[in-house]
Amino acid sequence: MPGPAPSDELVFFVNGRKVVERNMDPEGTLLTFLRKNLCLTGTKYACGTGGCGACTVMVSTYDPVSRKIRHFSVTACLVPICSLHGAAVTTVEGVGSIKTRIHPVQERIAKSHGTQCGFCTPGMVMSMYTLLRNHPQPSEEQLMEALGGNLCRCTGYRPILESGRTFCTESKACQQKGEGKCCLEQEENDLSSLSRESDTCTKLFAKEEFQPLDPTQELIFPPELLRMVENPEKQTLTFRGERVTWISPGTLTDLLELKVKHPEAPLILGNTSLGPAMKSQGRFHPILLSPARILELRMVTETSDGLTIGAACPLAQMKHILAKSIAELPEEKTQTYRTLLKQLSTLAGQQIRNVASLGGHIMSRHGYSDLNPVLAVGNATLNLVSQEGRRQIPLNEHFLAGLASADLKPEEILESVHIPHSQKWGFMSAFRQAQSQQNALPHVTAAMRVLFKEGTDHVEDLSVAYGGVGSTTVSAHTSCRQFLGRRWTEQVLDEACRLVLDEVSLPGSAPGGRVEFKRTLVVSFLYKFYLEVLQGLKKLEQPFPVPDCCRYPEIPDRFLSALEDFQVAVSQGVQTYQSVDSCQPLQDPVGRPVMHLSGLKHATGEAMFCDDIPKVDKELFMALVTSSRAHAKIISIDVSEALELPEVVDVVTAKDIPGTNGTEDDKLLAVNEVICVGQIICAVIAETDVQAKRAIEKIKVTYEDLMPVILTIEDAIRHNSFLCPEKKLEQGNIEEAFEKVDHIVQGDVHVGGQEHFYMETQRVLVIPKTEDQELDIYASTQDPAHMQKTVSLTLNIPINRITCHVKRVGGGFGGKVRRPAVFGAIAAVGAIKTGHPIRLVLDREDDMLITGGRHPLFGKYKVGFMNNGRIKALDVECYINGGCTLDDSELVTEFLILKLENVYKIRNLRFQGRACMTNLPSNTAFRGFGFPQGALVTESCITAVAAKCGLPPEKIREKNMYKTIDKTIYKQAFNPEPLIRCWNECLDKASFHSRRMQVEEFNKKNYWKKRGLAIVPMKFSVGFAATSYHQAAALVHVYTDGSVLVTHGGSELGQGIHTKMLQVASRELKVPMSSIHINETSTAMVPNTVATAASVGADVNGRAVQNACQSLLKRLEPIIKKNPEGTWEDWIEAAFEQRIGLSATGYFRGYKAFMDWEKGEGEPFPYYVYGAACSEVEIDCLTGAHKKIRTDIVMDTSCSLNPAIDIGQIEGAFVQGMGLYTTEELKYSPEGILHSRGPDEYKIPAAADIPEEFNVSLLPSSQNPLSIYSSKGLGESGMFLGSSVFFAIADAVASVHRERDTGEDFTVHSPATPERVRMACADRFTEMNLFPGWPSQHQLQQEQSQETSPKCHFGVGFPSSCTEHPCTPWERCTESSQTPQLKASLSSEQGGAALEGDVPAGAAAQMFVGLKGSRKHKDHGIR
Ligand SMILES: Cc1cc2nc3c(=O)[nH]c(=O)nc-3n(C[C@H](O)[C@H](O)[C@H](O)COP(=O)(O)OP(=O)(O)OC[C@H]3O[C@@H](n4cnc5c(N)ncnc54)[C@H](O)[C@@H]3O)c2cc1C
Ligand code: FES
Ligand code: FES
Repeated sequence: MPGPAPSDELVFFVNGRKVVERNMDPEGTLLTFLRKNLCLTGTKYACGTGGCGACTVMVSTYDPVSRKIRHFSVTACLVPICSLHGAAVTTVEGVGSIKTRIHPVQERIAKSHGTQCGFCTPGMVMSMYTLLRNHPQPSEEQLMEALGGNLCRCTGYRPILESGRTFCTESKACQQKGEGKCCLEQEENDLSSLSRESDTCTKLFAKEEFQPLDPTQELIFPPELLRMVENPEKQTLTFRGERVTWISPGTLTDLLELKVKHPEAPLILGNTSLGPAMKSQGRFHPILLSPARILELRMVTETSDGLTIGAACPLAQMKHILAKSIAELPEEKTQTYRTLLKQLSTLAGQQIRNVASLGGHIMSRHGYSDLNPVLAVGNATLNLVSQEGRRQIPLNEHFLAGLASADLKPEEILESVHIPHSQKWGFMSAFRQAQSQQNALPHVTAAMRVLFKEGTDHVEDLSVAYGGVGSTTVSAHTSCRQFLGRRWTEQVLDEACRLVLDEVSLPGSAPGGRVEFKRTLVVSFLYKFYLEVLQGLKKLEQPFPVPDCCRYPEIPDRFLSALEDFQVAVSQGVQTYQSVDSCQPLQDPVGRPVMHLSGLKHATGEAMFCDDIPKVDKELFMALVTSSRAHAKIISIDVSEALELPEVVDVVTAKDIPGTNGTEDDKLLAVNEVICVGQIICAVIAETDVQAKRAIEKIKVTYEDLMPVILTIEDAIRHNSFLCPEKKLEQGNIEEAFEKVDHIVQGDVHVGGQEHFYMETQRVLVIPKTEDQELDIYASTQDPAHMQKTVSLTLNIPINRITCHVKRVGGGFGGKVRRPAVFGAIAAVGAIKTGHPIRLVLDREDDMLITGGRHPLFGKYKVGFMNNGRIKALDVECYINGGCTLDDSELVTEFLILKLENVYKIRNLRFQGRACMTNLPSNTAFRGFGFPQGALVTESCITAVAAKCGLPPEKIREKNMYKTIDKTIYKQAFNPEPLIRCWNECLDKASFHSRRMQVEEFNKKNYWKKRGLAIVPMKFSVGFAATSYHQAAALVHVYTDGSVLVTHGGSELGQGIHTKMLQVASRELKVPMSSIHINETSTAMVPNTVATAASVGADVNGRAVQNACQSLLKRLEPIIKKNPEGTWEDWIEAAFEQRIGLSATGYFRGYKAFMDWEKGEGEPFPYYVYGAACSEVEIDCLTGAHKKIRTDIVMDTSCSLNPAIDIGQIEGAFVQGMGLYTTEELKYSPEGILHSRGPDEYKIPAAADIPEEFNVSLLPSSQNPLSIYSSKGLGESGMFLGSSVFFAIADAVASVHRERDTGEDFTVHSPATPERVRMACADRFTEMNLFPGWPSQHQLQQEQSQETSPKCHFGVGFPSSCTEHPCTPWERCTESSQTPQLKASLSSEQGGAALEGDVPAGAAAQMFVGLKGSRKHKDHGIR
């Protein structure tokens, strides 16, 4: 029998060079091909699911119909390689290079300080570059759209956006205090509009240096491809791989024939639905049919009754098609198009919209689909085609539910979608609520349409459909039918809410959980629609005189705010810092905003990260087998099936470890027992990464579950499960103090954990050498010496045989201090066992599953205070969830307790902390090391005191703040003067008091939107509380040409430590930075280093570099004296001639840190960083969404070594903190399995999430004698300032409570997610939701029969008859809402009230989530 026909040639271009592949595997992606086959490693892997944008490249295709070339950005990780036949790909390497020419995009992002670790930078560059290829002068809106799909974990986005804005047309100047003058246009020290100090500066880069954009310099579309596409040689192309065949027919007839032959084969277009399903859910399709070349599927036809759009049309193009129709057609006909356009603007990122097709979207029938609800209520029809002919089916609930009678037949395909025009007297809207504004899957999405009988408000047709509430789009058609012929009244709305809630039933197991929230959104969206329609009706009514009886009800102005969506704007702001002294020599770079040393290399993709090292000879790949049980005995590990696979080389288990297998409590590879899901059991070694990952599926681990399974802090307390002894600090006499105070308030604080989400996942390459057991390890670690030592112990070979190299780390944030050593050690065992180099690169899902993150915290406080707000006693008990092993949990507990007082002087204090042992992956170091969680407890106490005293929180803060030289709770002396200055400057720069009044004014005028304003002070202690950590060494070589090589013990994590070290060396040696180089961090060059962490990396290593340089200079002194006019090169030459050593080590024996826990005294930290941040937000009470209006930060950095880098650290940490406190939410199953394992489920802030106005000032004239050149370490402190957003949200929620008089509660839940905010803004919709089915159908029928007599929502009489409760139709009638059922429920809830003393009615109510007195107090659980 003849074998299958050979594969066709796949032809495409990459960066202008032709690629012809004869045996391309259809399972491959563009990302793998670029990185592995072409060694173009500028394109990065960070998630593999299209959600982060790190792998963005530009694809250009030629459309033979329109004869136009289309340039579009894509995420290479989702692009099937075979889809590129005939396309041209441009990667970051093709855009520009430091070896040839840097592109303006690359230059500007680097020089604007838009790169830190640089891992996201190539993706950012490519998104911006593609934008400029299509729009050389884009608008700011287009810029935001282009960058919406790119995540950055380091910079906080502001500088990236600023670099992009330099290309924009109508670039709005940063409106410093409304004076309309851009700070960047001002000369240094031209401070007329910016600052009163004469030595401050607001310019971080020189815009005038930028090269202009010259579109003529770009790569052209290869003419060969034009010819190829216009005259294809073959109609059907087939690419055969080992397991999968890709068939790309050239005609519709061929496609339909293939569909008959392969009815199970999916059509593959954008691969944004198929791809993730194949990757994460293990779906497998041996045949893939690609209809990309079939023109019929891309056709767009405008007919008299609507638009017909081809199924293969990408969503981005659909936006243009809709926009064109909207511009051309009368408004009444385009409601569906406008609604679709609105949904498209928030659906995924630009890269996904560029490839995701309309047909693929519809056919995927995702439960969360944003478009299917709109298409369903808009009466779209699907045009199907098969060999049998064409037919139409409606896109309705039956189709969406996949009913066989309403679905495609296996041999049919979707050819196009007909979307009819809307009608006059019809209204349509869509709504969605996601964890964040952009690039986030919706929790609930909805579309609604109503058609009225002309000239009336009598409902002729009504359709409502929801996404996010079921496994597919759900329609509320039964409820809608009930309203036909009825009037558009408040009564109808109320009934509709209840009926829809009944119909759109959300079982407890609804996809994604959040049932109560989703049910609330279901009715809140209905309410928004109700108002929108009412407003629309009024507009239609205007031309006709309408008798009073028929007038539509007025919508009070206060309620119109329900209708406004938050708009996305490009953030702007001013960064102010102290200029260097005018006497400082020009070539001395210290104190100047020098660009990150690798900035340009980041932007061109030439900066090498661990996995960018080319494949080494005989290299093998390792993949890890992890536990699927939280607590179980391992009965057996069967590796036989995996070992039978031809490509599998070996399996590494604990038995293969020659030395020690970690510690007794923290094993590298599990033995006998597993104690969390994600614990590493063994590792497979295979020839490629794909083979290794496939092989792990073949390893069978048999478990026997063990009890207990402890997941939460509450569980751990119950089981007395702790990792280490309690830490305690106490001063004064707390019991006595509590007896004398006016008030006591008690409360709970829950702070969720946080995933590091460094963009570069954990990765390591171990190369065994042939001699003397030597081993080279290339790793992404913050602590190479720890890696070296762990490997040494594991292999049982001396440390001196092992060299750990760190070129740079793609973000660490504490997550790469300890964990990398585990991966390094396991890979090293594999390397020794096989004798081959081993590469281990974690997928994002595995990284999130295996490595822990920030410790969740549960805090209980009791605070005693006087009527004036003076706090006399504070008792805090904190528990952190340490996970299954100790790791850093004891240290985190200590830091937490030491830092808990924040800035407050309270005479009587007791702080206690414990680390809980649970069956979760071990939590570890994370930027701030316990402070961001602990200080939230303290600041929440302050807010509770303020609420109780009826005073603003800032007054309580001021009253209790340290003001003069004093001692901390652990008796360390300090001077809080810079703290007070930061606080006052922040109040001043933020115009706090006048804005407080504006916020109040806004809140009075708006019922459904509320603003909140908060200012938070901070005292952050830097450093480790252990003396041995305060040391560093450096090695400085001067070569005979005068060039200098500096090596020190710090790892470059993006924080710019290498840049700062060169600044130090340059100042000391008086040599320009361009003559000094840093190659890498290596344990062979500088031994026994300490982790680059705790904000002191630049402090200690800077001192060591300084010391080495000073030694060298001392040696050179006689030569310089002899020839003072000589050059550096002359002196070096002379020194060499005179046999003077040109290499020096430097050492810094740092601060002596100590803490005596017995006595509760010590000096654990060298110094403090002070700061204050003020944030203003606006919340949508109906959805829980918020927008950040403005943030002002004032930070005391003393004499910054590099203000650009330091401001970058502050902004980046602030945004990361904002994520911690607002959107980043880890979700575990009851079995302890982490669900949030990628950017889809775990939302770190995106560009659209940062404050619209974002100002940062470095406090001038502050000194820090303890650190190099009087600077301060700023790596972590900004993190906590992100809580100003949290407290601003809390302030806005409190104003809701005050207005609605809904009592108070001092339970604080962070993050303040939309879910928590929405549920905290209790109203009639949240309450409806509490009692599904209430009122009864019988009551409803009664109400229906009395439709003409309006009622208050709760049956008391409405609107004018309800004199007792004068609520408007829109407001919640608090009194009446307390039905017997509700009252009964609440009284039982209040049994456990955590409040003491009387609560004045209307006191500023607190926080999230429970609202005693109005709704169920529900623990949303911290895991
Ligand atoms: C990072 C990311 C973020 C996202 N965010 C959102 C979001 O916010 N909101 C939202 O609604 N969606 C979102 N999505 C989902 C996205 O909209 C869909 O994945 C996409 O529209 C599917 O289109 P596709 O062309 O990629 O389909 P493919 O993955 O190529 O195909 C999907 C399915 O459709 C079938 N199919 C395709 N065309 C036809 C046809 N003509 N006839 C018959 N069957 C066909 C295929 O057989 C296949 O089963 C997101 C996806 C990603 C990856
Ligand atoms: S790696 Fe491709 S989008 Fe994240
Ligand atoms: S610079 Fe953006 S992720 Fe590090």
